[in-house]
Amino acid sequence: MTSTLGSKGATSTPQELDMSGLSWILFGHAAFQYLNAACELELFELLAKHGSLTKREIQEKLELEDRATDVLLLGTTALGLTVQRDGNYSVAEVIADLQRGSDWQRIKDTVAFEQYVVYEGQLDFTESLRTNSNVGLRRVRGTGRDLYHRLSENPQLESVFYRYMRSWSELANVHLVEQLDLSGSKKLLDCGGGDAVNSIALAEANPHLSAAVFEIPATEAIAQKKIAEAGLSDRVSVIAGDMFADPFPSGFDTIMFAHQLVIWTLEENTFLLRKAYEALPEGGRLVIFNSMSNDEGDGPVVAALDSVYFAALPAKGGMIYSWQQHENCLREAGFQEFQRVACPGWTPHGILIATK
Ligand SMILES: C[S@@+](CC[C@H](N)C(=O)[O-])C[C@H]1O[C@@H](n2cnc3c(N)ncnc32)[C@H](O)[C@@H]1O
Repeated sequence: MTSTLGSKGATSTPQELDMSGLSWILFGHAAFQYLNAACELELFELLAKHGSLTKREIQEKLELEDRATDVLLLGTTALGLTVQRDGNYSVAEVIADLQRGSDWQRIKDTVAFEQYVVYEGQLDFTESLRTNSNVGLRRVRGTGRDLYHRLSENPQLESVFYRYMRSWSELANVHLVEQLDLSGSKKLLDCGGGDAVNSIALAEANPHLSAAVFEIPATEAIAQKKIAEAGLSDRVSVIAGDMFADPFPSGFDTIMFAHQLVIWTLEENTFLLRKAYEALPEGGRLVIFNSMSNDEGDGPVVAALDSVYFAALPAKGGMIYSWQQHENCLREAGFQEFQRVACPGWTPHGILIATK
């Protein structure tokens, strides 16, 4: 086994908690509500446009009452989302920096996903732990067997979800494109590829490559539309099917699971990886791209926080697994050679590449 960058966060020891840290956790849900409200009211866009504004100006432009403006600015300023100097409010530098690039909209898409898809289901986190199952799914209308099979029954939720999924992938897939050498690959199968965001990025970067997104029928049209918009219908296609129930399509030298093996139990992951192993030719490669927790099981913190969603909502059992856990599944599925690539940045993304 080779390790390109090692287990991200493996050497960082969690800080000892003090009362200040405990109070942040205690009111963490409220901190998020300030962020969400400021995003929905477009406070950050307003301040960015004007440089800085007084409370009165903000109140008029957002058409809020006195007290509501007081609450909003108390929260955003106390949390450091906005900065107040001599009665003038401006956007915090971290947000201004994101606004100068293309990541601010991606963060806003993530905020909307947390608010409208994740939040309610997390109320069932304790019960989900007790029953080792995704009790929070009961809060999503519909009869589908998991969140993905219920999205088409909730069109608004579906559009929030796929906007977020595209943005979350784009926050990190620049590293996938950089690190995954596809010069020797001809055909890539993107299992559960969503709206094709990663297949499109890889096909754009590798003009000789063709890719197919293997997706449930309900998502087929969403992916087709994005592929056509990218002008890649000649090289990126969609295969509608169920990766658990249907055989894996053959003829692919690379099989990728992007943001996929965080959804299912380790047993299900081994099952999927074994199917992939059998479908690959000798020398073919398997790519896992998603957030990773460290092998010590104590971080990074974003991996821990994201695990609440995967434990409570989408399917019976998932979490942000450690590198080691993925490697154990790969080994059980038949793979023997792995390469770890930790992605730089604030998301805990990593890439695991295994060769048959
Ligand atoms: C978390 S999303 C990831 C999407 C995409 N890979 C990305 O990284 O942006 C998981 C995707 O897996 C798909 N999926 C879930 N169950 C599936 C199944 N049984 N067969 C094929 N795709 C499935 C969902 O429809 C969803 O689009």
